[in-house]
Amino acid sequence: MKHPRPDVIIVGAGLTGCASALALSQRGLRIVMVERGTVGAFAASRAAAGILGAQLERHAAAAMQQLCVLSRDRYPGWLEILGARAAHDSEYRRCGSLRLAMTDDEVAPLQAEVSQQRAMALRAQWLSGADTRHRFPQLSPRTRGAAWYPDDAAIDPAALLKVTLAAVRAAGVEVRENIDVARVSFVGEGIGNARVKGIVARDGSELLCERVVIAAGSWSTLIEGLEPLRITPTTVVPVRGQLVQLRAPRMPIAPVVEGPGAYLSTRRDGRVLVGATVERVGFDRTLSPQAAQQLQAAAVSLLPSLQQAPINDNWCGFRAATADLLPLFDETLARGLMLCTGHYRNGVLLAPISGQVVAACVLQEAPPPTALAPFRLARLLAAD
Ligand code: GLY
Repeated sequence: MKHPRPDVIIVGAGLTGCASALALSQRGLRIVMVERGTVGAFAASRAAAGILGAQLERHAAAAMQQLCVLSRDRYPGWLEILGARAAHDSEYRRCGSLRLAMTDDEVAPLQAEVSQQRAMALRAQWLSGADTRHRFPQLSPRTRGAAWYPDDAAIDPAALLKVTLAAVRAAGVEVRENIDVARVSFVGEGIGNARVKGIVARDGSELLCERVVIAAGSWSTLIEGLEPLRITPTTVVPVRGQLVQLRAPRMPIAPVVEGPGAYLSTRRDGRVLVGATVERVGFDRTLSPQAAQQLQAAAVSLLPSLQQAPINDNWCGFRAATADLLPLFDETLARGLMLCTGHYRNGVLLAPISGQVVAACVLQEAPPPTALAPFRLARLLAAD
């Protein structure tokens, strides 16, 4: 569908952009979603391993833990909205996650983590070494124990992005590729009086709209002219993650597994995604053979059968990081401009809730039932 004068332009056609576009178009708004290349080519969501690890990821901030759990638990409902086959096609599985202790020193901190999560009324269980090996005999005999989070899940993010884009298009969103947004244009003088007029692409073309949502991951704050709103190119920066894919004859283990040096997310057809490095190297896409070998070795030390699984692919993606590594959901001082970025290690996980947060801000609807203040721009400015 063509929208010459959309209500909202969403910058970025990754999962966050798609979830936002879908939520808004379902409420009757005309949406154009723009992507600077072809859709999916740059999306961090496509490079991710697809671990919906609300409990596996360690969140110091209780608000972030809550947000992640809420989003994880919305996945089944959100997938239904995406289509009858979405859960199947994106390989959604509530498979649980395991964080392994491989030395005696790692046992007590992991047990404490389990207790903390239980105190938050989340399901979590400490498995002794013998219990872990009994339930998951594929794991290394050196396993000393594991934190077991049965409600965590996994998904294939590349397949999910495909499914989501199809749903977005079916909902009437216009997706425009090869629009590299240089800046947002405004009318009105002075910060408090500025109001969104549209976007200007690098080729000079302008597209007018009432509102702009920037959901462009690590590239979000490279859009020019945001400094008067106290948003600078370093408000969100890229953190590279390299991953390798191993090829096993069949799915070697169902749950997501994390241990020293690697996490593993398995696919029905025997692919095993192993991640990930955490590197502040700007937008450098150079892959390092050493990183690939280290990830493979760490994976084998957790799941020895992977010794027989060769590396058959490797790639990297860029996590969008704020200074405190928490997401950035906020309307700016310019009327009509909103940011939804900074998802760092949790972009895929937070897609359903991100769509809801954007709809709540744009349409003044009830926000999700969780604290959003820790994710506002103000907390980053206070740290300046
Ligand atoms: N979500 C895991 C990672 O970013 O490596």
